[in-house]
Amino acid sequence: MSDYSRENFLDLNTFRGLGEDPAYQPPVLTDRPRDWPLDRWTDAPRDLGFSDFSRYQWRGLRMLKDPDTQAALHDLLCELRPRTIVELGVYGGGSLVWFRDLTKLMGIDCQVIGIDKDLSRCQIPDSEKSNISLYEADCSDLATFEPLRGAAHPLVFIDDAHSNTFNIMKWAVDHLLEQGDYFIIEDMIPYWDRYSPKHLAEYLAAFRDVLSMDMVYANASSQLDRGVFRRADMKE
Ligand SMILES: C[S@@+](CC[C@H](N)C(=O)[O-])C[C@H]1O[C@@H](n2cnc3c(N)ncnc32)[C@H](O)[C@@H]1O
Repeated sequence: MSDYSRENFLDLNTFRGLGEDPAYQPPVLTDRPRDWPLDRWTDAPRDLGFSDFSRYQWRGLRMLKDPDTQAALHDLLCELRPRTIVELGVYGGGSLVWFRDLTKLMGIDCQVIGIDKDLSRCQIPDSEKSNISLYEADCSDLATFEPLRGAAHPLVFIDDAHSNTFNIMKWAVDHLLEQGDYFIIEDMIPYWDRYSPKHLAEYLAAFRDVLSMDMVYANASSQLDRGVFRRADMKE
């Protein structure tokens, strides 16, 4: 049977940047022993031999935030002390548990809200859901965000679903964000800057009276690259 005669092909786009397994599995080294003999120390490989990204996890849940991004978000939480964190894109759910645990350790009473069109891959056990709310909904429909009105502030809103971003940003500015709140676009700015630079510059400029880029966090990691915006009243 030739390969193309199989009944169904998976849409590999759905795995882009995610890996195929939302559950964290400790890495298995296939091309080298884990216990390297010290009499061959000089021959030891200097890389891991597998993608770094699949290694990121929090308490056994996959979390698609690299260490630089984790450090920057830690500092932002510490500085802002948010009462609400909204993250679009849940996947395995590790980042939601990480936000909840970190704010709890910092003594912040914070609600963490995760929105995803497919929560079937979320691995958060029921016993770990305190202060975490999950909504299965599509970000392409702005009605998805109505329940967020009335959320406590300060608030951090993170787009990690990469869908309808600028319409969501406008909705958030019009209906949700107060002065000092954050809207973060994770991962995508460098791609849009490469493939649609005119649209990107034009869309961002449209928010000039209501958002500014926070130059501390916008330069802190490649995933946050030029995508950290703060609500400001800049008209006066
Ligand atoms: C990059 S992953 C989220 C990773 C997670 N925030 C983390 O840091 O570990 C992107 C998620 O966005 C979700 N997604 C993609 N398009 C969406 C849409 N239109 N509405 C809601 N969720 C969407 C996918 O189902 C996927 O789980």
